Amino acid sequence: MIELAWRTPPAWATRVAEQPLALLSDHAHCELKAASTAQALIARHPDDALLVERLATMAEEEMQHFHAVVRLLHARGGTLGPLRPNPYAEALAQAAKEGRGDVLLDRLVLAGLIEARSLERFRLFEEHLADKELAALYRSLAPTEAAHQGMFFHLAHRRGGERVASERIEVLRRREGRIVEDLPFAHRVHSGLR
Ligand SMILES: [Fe+2]
Ligand SMILES: [Fe+2]
Repeated sequence: MIELAWRTPPAWATRVAEQPLALLSDHAHCELKAASTAQALIARHPDDALLVERLATMAEEEMQHFHAVVRLLHARGGTLGPLRPNPYAEALAQAAKEGRGDVLLDRLVLAGLIEARSLERFRLFEEHLADKELAALYRSLAPTEAAHQGMFFHLAHRRGGERVASERIEVLRRREGRIVEDLPFAHRVHSGLR
C-alpha cells in the first residue's frame, strides 16, 4: 500500500456527498475510464501475458463497479451526466511528460496512483458519510481498488526494475500530492479543497 503524499481531510468527503447524484455520475465515469484504460494497455502490449491477464480481470471488475454505481444513480432518479474533462488526470499526465523515460512504466505508475487516491477517498466516504447506502457502496468497492493499486505497482516494478521503478514512483507520488492539493473543489471523486 503506497503512502500518498497529501492526505485528504474528512471534511472534503462530507462536502462532496452533499450532491450525491453529481458524485455518482462523476464516479461512474471514473469506473468506465478505468476499464477503458485497462483495455488500451492490453491493446498496446498484447504479447505481455501477465499484463494482459491482470488487466483483463481489472477491466471486468471496473465494469462491475460502473454498473453498481449507475444502478444506485438510477435508483435515486438520476442519470449519467456528460463526460467532462478531468483536471486531475490531465495534470498527472502532464507531470509524467516531464523527465519521462519509459512510457509504459509511467502509465503503470500513474494508474497505481489514481487507484490509491480513489481508494483513499472511498474509505473516507465509507467512514464519514451519514448516507448509509452511499457509505455501503464505497465499502463494497474498496477491497478491489486496493488490489488494483497493488497490481499496478507490481507491474511497474516488473517493468522498470526495483531501482528505476522506485525512483519514478517517488517522483510521481510527490507530484500527485501537490496536484490534488491544488485542485478546486467540485462534487467529484478527484477534486481538491480550494
Ligand atoms: Fe473501480
Ligand atoms: Fe480500480
